[in-house]
Amino acid sequence: MNALDLLFDRHSTPAKHLCAPPPDDTQLDIMLRAAMSAPDHAALVPWRFLIVREPALPALGELWATAYASRHPHAEPELVQRQREKIQRAPLLIGIISHLSENHPRVPELEQHLAVAVAAGHILLAAQALGYGAIWLSGESCRDRHVSHALGLSENEHLLGFINTGSIKGNPPLRTRQDPWPYTREWMG
Ligand SMILES: Cc1cc2nc3c(=O)[nH]c(=O)nc-3n(C[C@H](O)[C@H](O)[C@H](O)COP(=O)(O)O)c2cc1C
Repeated sequence: MNALDLLFDRHSTPAKHLCAPPPDDTQLDIMLRAAMSAPDHAALVPWRFLIVREPALPALGELWATAYASRHPHAEPELVQRQREKIQRAPLLIGIISHLSENHPRVPELEQHLAVAVAAGHILLAAQALGYGAIWLSGESCRDRHVSHALGLSENEHLLGFINTGSIKGNPPLRTRQDPWPYTREWMG
């Protein structure tokens, strides 16, 4: 596939349009290797990835439901159940984790987060190139420290969401892309 065609066509697939089978181990390996070429100031490798798939998805659903219920003790059971189900819609989740070098002399934490975001973007592109749908989703549970600890993250790590990926079912809507020039200006000195 032409690289520019892939870039112009890059789009997310809503989670309700994702289904089994997910990328296999070889394809997952390709997606993760694509992430490793993200620009990375001082080669800090500020990203970590967390794979979640069967048989662990129901446990993640329980974690999401429990965390939501403890943040919202008066929530209707339907809302808690929705949290349990939402996180399990795609057959393969790739957690995007920033692993920050704190007080680095040359690379502020913002730059490290940006590198992680580009790495995640490479995963999205690779998934699409392999013929799978993918979407990066977050939500308040990703920022819940109880969830982070349950997932084994350390204090300098932050869960920035999950890339949800899988085969595509139905006809997901496509977004039209905007012209870049209204968002661009040239500094003339
Ligand atoms: C870090 C990050 C977190 C996101 N979290 C959500 C989310 O929780 N829910 C959501 O609907 N979209 C979320 N998005 C946006 C989708 O991933 C996607 O970009 C959006 O649906 C637009 O589709 P497109 O990628 O085809 O332009 C997030 C994007 C990023 C970069």
